Amino acid sequence: MLRAKIIGTGSYLPKKVMTNHDLEKLVDTSDEWIMTRTGIRERRIADKKEASSDLGIKAAREALANAGLKASDLELILVATATPDMIFPSTAAYVQHGLGAGNAAAMDISAVCTGFIFGLSIAEQYIKTGRYKTILVVGTEIMSRILDWTDRKTCVLFGDGAGAAIIQGSEDESGILSTHIYTDGSYADFLLAPGSGTRHGYGSAAQGDKSNCIHMKGNETFKVAVNFMSKVAREALESNGLASEDIDLFIPHQANQRIIEAIAKKLGVPSEKVFMNLHKYGNTSAASVPIALDEALRENRIKRGDLVLIVAFGGGLTWGASLIRW
Ligand code: ACO
Repeated sequence: MLRAKIIGTGSYLPKKVMTNHDLEKLVDTSDEWIMTRTGIRERRIADKKEASSDLGIKAAREALANAGLKASDLELILVATATPDMIFPSTAAYVQHGLGAGNAAAMDISAVCTGFIFGLSIAEQYIKTGRYKTILVVGTEIMSRILDWTDRKTCVLFGDGAGAAIIQGSEDESGILSTHIYTDGSYADFLLAPGSGTRHGYGSAAQGDKSNCIHMKGNETFKVAVNFMSKVAREALESNGLASEDIDLFIPHQANQRIIEAIAKKLGVPSEKVFMNLHKYGNTSAASVPIALDEALRENRIKRGDLVLIVAFGGGLTWGASLIRW
């Protein structure tokens, strides 16, 4: 059976930088508190004219160029986002049109920060069955539009950005060894944007309504995140007969430095094998893992034959891991 392989990546970060010092002017916080508790120094903020599809299109164009492919080669587009352009049509439909990828079916994935790994898992199945040969997976978010900028417990954590990957079948040993995804809806109230659907009606942040902003139980989320991510990481290794010593690069969801360090410690992965860029971008939700993967490749942190472990965790709750032989 074919193995699915990432053959090109791309990312896009909006130009506007918001530092912790900028946030000190908005809420009662400090650079010192944010750095110590999260590891985040600054984040990017999308322009008012930009929607999530605009960011995703830029990341996808770069991924296509990297893979040496044209938009018309794409057969399926999966867009993971918690901040869609609108309820419908899908953000994926806008990405498809913006790229000129008229041969591709396109759909959104709603798994918040784990969305990119959910997307990889779906892409992997289509490649393995031979149904599609070339698939684009995008994670794109404008979290700044669903933040309550008066709530210091959440507004300091998130940022905007997009990452993308092109997936094809592999002719050799390289590719995704396995992907493992989970959901537990009993934790739905840990992390949610309640006023953004049919349960509580549609609030509009643009009109000062905060019901559709992120509501989060930070401490509870922290503990569960560490447990679930380390468990699924171990499962990915064990199901391939591998151990944490075999990992060349560990790319976790960039939510909080302390969460990342706790997982790395539980797994026994040394800090030099852990990729972190959250100091620059904060938590970009579904975009976090593909942006980090793209940066790791650009910085030559991944070579042919390396074993890469990616892990994420998000609202739902959802969590997942993918083990990749590069
Ligand atoms: N600046 C200054 N003080 C603050 C801030 C802030 N930005 N935010 C909270 N505080 C205060 C609190 O009010 C509290 O004060 P009190 O003791 O007087 O009540 C104190 O700091 C400690 O607050 P805690 O919430 O206990 O701080 P903690 O060390 O747990 O850090 C944090 C909070 C950063 C949110 C942490 O719990 C965390 O990272 N949780 C996980 C969140 C996460 O990763 N969410 C996303 C995952 S899924 C996804 O990505 C969508």
